[in-house]
Amino acid sequence: MSGIKVRDLAWGRFAAPDLDRAEQFLTDFGLTRLERSADRLYMRGADGGPFLHVTEQGDPRFLGAAFLLDSADDLARAARLPGASAIEPLDGPCDGQRVRVTEPNGYVIELVHGMTPLAPMAVPRDPTNSGAEPLRRAGRMMRLSRSPTPIRRSGHLVLTTPRVAETVAWFRTNLGLLRSDDLLDGSPDRIVGSFNRLDRGEEFVDHHVLFCAYGERAGLNHLSFEVSDIDAVFQDHEYLKGLGRYEHMWGIGRHKLGSQVYDYWCDPWGRVHERWADSDRLNAANGGNLVDVTRENVASQWGDPFPPRFRGWASP
Ligand SMILES: [Fe+2]
Repeated sequence: MSGIKVRDLAWGRFAAPDLDRAEQFLTDFGLTRLERSADRLYMRGADGGPFLHVTEQGDPRFLGAAFLLDSADDLARAARLPGASAIEPLDGPCDGQRVRVTEPNGYVIELVHGMTPLAPMAVPRDPTNSGAEPLRRAGRMMRLSRSPTPIRRSGHLVLTTPRVAETVAWFRTNLGLLRSDDLLDGSPDRIVGSFNRLDRGEEFVDHHVLFCAYGERAGLNHLSFEVSDIDAVFQDHEYLKGLGRYEHMWGIGRHKLGSQVYDYWCDPWGRVHERWADSDRLNAANGGNLVDVTRENVASQWGDPFPPRFRGWASP
């Protein structure tokens, strides 16, 4: 164990040959441009962390992801991980420092500290008058803000990999992630998927910050982001559909493992980006489960069935 427990997923880093097209997609998807240079595009969310998405000029590739560290001590620990870079300055718009390490599939994981948080952006949304809370909007009409509704924060990273057990062990050992649900295909040593969450002790966190799914080829399955509410998932699904520019992958539905209401869209180079609302939230005391891969255990609680082409989806 490295002793490091990462605080949160910070961003995904991609390469794309056309930054205009990348920015158009990401803007339509609900991210907001923070900074753009000749060869870099930084997009932010509404909450106050650093940016959530980086695109570098280049052939289309998923480059890796970044996680936030709690302290300079953790950054020093990160630099002692096997194969780690030295501590180096981040050259983006939020300053800070990073250590680069390579996970078992060859993607670069940036471990970052000391970044200047962005001021939160207001996202005016009305609460619903439903169920046990019929008066959350008492005396007010619901008038939803327009699409695209802003992405709030990073959610999770999903890697497809032929080496699920090795990949998961790497993230748990080096970044301190905890098992939420491991998916077993027949026997306890045949792990075909693994949902992992942050270890923040008593603090409640998303059901998963990393999912690894078995596939013959390693790659990015999807990168995911939280939006303000379930209306925003539906509203922006209609918005993106109406634009007619992007390929839809899956949704809308409600997952079983994690319970999010989800919607998945491809960027212009086939990299899947997810918008979701309403995750299960667990803390360290919740422990983890071994789950047999049966339809009952993994199918959505409602919504369209899982599209076969999304299984093993791996953007290089
Ligand atoms: Fe997801």
